[in-house]
Amino acid sequence: MLRDDTASPPFALLDEPLAYVQAAHLQQRAICAVLRRFAAAHAASRPEADRVTAYLTGELRLHHEDEDLDLYPALRRRALPADGLGITLARLGEEHRQGAAMADLIVDALSARPAEEVVQLGATTSEAMQAYAASEIRHLALENAVVLALARIRLTRPDLKAISRGMKARRGVEVT
Ligand SMILES: [Fe+2]
Ligand SMILES: [Fe+2]
Repeated sequence: MLRDDTASPPFALLDEPLAYVQAAHLQQRAICAVLRRFAAAHAASRPEADRVTAYLTGELRLHHEDEDLDLYPALRRRALPADGLGITLARLGEEHRQGAAMADLIVDALSARPAEEVVQLGATTSEAMQAYAASEIRHLALENAVVLALARIRLTRPDLKAISRGMKARRGVEVT
């Protein structure tokens, strides 16, 4: 069975968008641990392969949109030049695009033969999973240490409300 920390954060947390993003990073870290386990075993059970595929094609895309369309733009507006955030946000946004391409390859490998109980993974796929997990862990660590830390200082209550509304709309959650 998968551990609970691969589950998506509860929608109730969307009222505190920075807390939701932080929880989504814990989830992302847990998924990366599963990918590393797949890579080490050169195999994935069908339920876990399906779970990771659902994450990479679902919640992770929403998370990137939360950041690219709501959180980063709000921070670009509020950050001070001395924060030096422009280059960091540009790099993180580019990593979203590069990571999506790697995630697509992993999804292809995990979902190629849906009837098989155990997905056998070749060396190339296993290496790609390790590389992807390592780069994602670095990415979210930077977001936690820099982006979220500055967001807590710079974003106003109306900014957070607007980010929360965007994240809810993206998930079809009624805005209150
Ligand atoms: Fe990100
Ligand atoms: Fe993130």
